[in-house]
Amino acid sequence: MIDGAKGIENLVDRLAVDHILSREEFCYLLENIRPEQDGYLYEKARKQALASYGNRIFVRGLMEFTNYCKNDCYYCGIRRSNQKASRYRLTPEQVMDCCHTGYGLGFRTFVLQGGEDPWFTDDKIAYLVERIRGGYPDCAITLSVGEKDYDTYKMWFDAGADRYLLRHETANPCHYASLHPPQMSSAHRKECLGNLKKIGYQTGCGIMVGAPYQTTGHIAEDLEYMYGLQPEMVGIGPFIPHHDTPFGDRPAGTLRQTLLLLAIVRLMLPGVLLPATTALGTIEPDGREQGVMAGANVVMPNLSPLDVRKKYMLYDNKISTGVEAAANIKELKQRMASIGYEVVTDRGDFRKTLPECV
Ligand code: 5AD
Repeated sequence: MIDGAKGIENLVDRLAVDHILSREEFCYLLENIRPEQDGYLYEKARKQALASYGNRIFVRGLMEFTNYCKNDCYYCGIRRSNQKASRYRLTPEQVMDCCHTGYGLGFRTFVLQGGEDPWFTDDKIAYLVERIRGGYPDCAITLSVGEKDYDTYKMWFDAGADRYLLRHETANPCHYASLHPPQMSSAHRKECLGNLKKIGYQTGCGIMVGAPYQTTGHIAEDLEYMYGLQPEMVGIGPFIPHHDTPFGDRPAGTLRQTLLLLAIVRLMLPGVLLPATTALGTIEPDGREQGVMAGANVVMPNLSPLDVRKKYMLYDNKISTGVEAAANIKELKQRMASIGYEVVTDRGDFRKTLPECV
């Protein structure tokens, strides 16, 4: 179908120009790209990121405000069935303290992320959003609290939330069913993402690379789904096992697979806000720098209070006290500067119109 060594570079070139390939071509690219060709893809992706946003890295202050969760996802360390997880909730005052600290450190986006915790009713979350909106009118507020109905999402949007992160995890319904209990479905997840877009949120979807049972065919479907959704953000990190989950003995996703996908997503969605995730930094000490070199342009340091940080353990060995800690933003700035990038104090909104590029 596609001829020899030039085939891969031709596919990368075409992706950079057309921003889409067929499912078969995505599969071919993922299965046949040789390690010595990775650099060709990464460089194209990095150039696209530079053309879209310059050498600027946006930071988001992450507040993991509850690790209670009513869901039971097979891969996740804070799943309901994990009785060994030590549970916590932050009070509104603690959340406001995190914002205060974060603002002082230069953060202009606050991300409220948590498990699907029924104690935090829709009204309580709206209250948190209103408090942050009132105190920080110049900041973006991102929510990441799972699946809700249209009216709830709309209420939070009207309360002042700007963005919403909800990874679709996998676009393939059968694969989704192998990662989640029967009460959850890929169709509902996609419906939620559609509603978020409709309401006007800057919306983020995403996947774990190397999740159990994942095939290249699934990844090709994910890419096709993302292209159709046209999300403003995409969260991509390696799957990492958590020892107290059903997938505790599964292998982690690899650095290379994650970098390849980051680069492909950058070329497919040129203006997307693409974090170099904590999971990437967990499997490799300089994973996030490598992510930036493959087209990522966002990092999300942790603003949660120190004593709860170790409890938000989605996977084993999740890092939380190094440069991923918001308090160490100076070191993060130095590390990004060492690869030619500048961490900026900026809301870092999605850019609808991009300058002509590559
Ligand atoms: N490894 C990597 N990522 C995980 N997540 C949950 N559990 C794991 C794990 N074991 C990711 C999911 C979820 C996000 C908040 O964290 O993709 O959407």
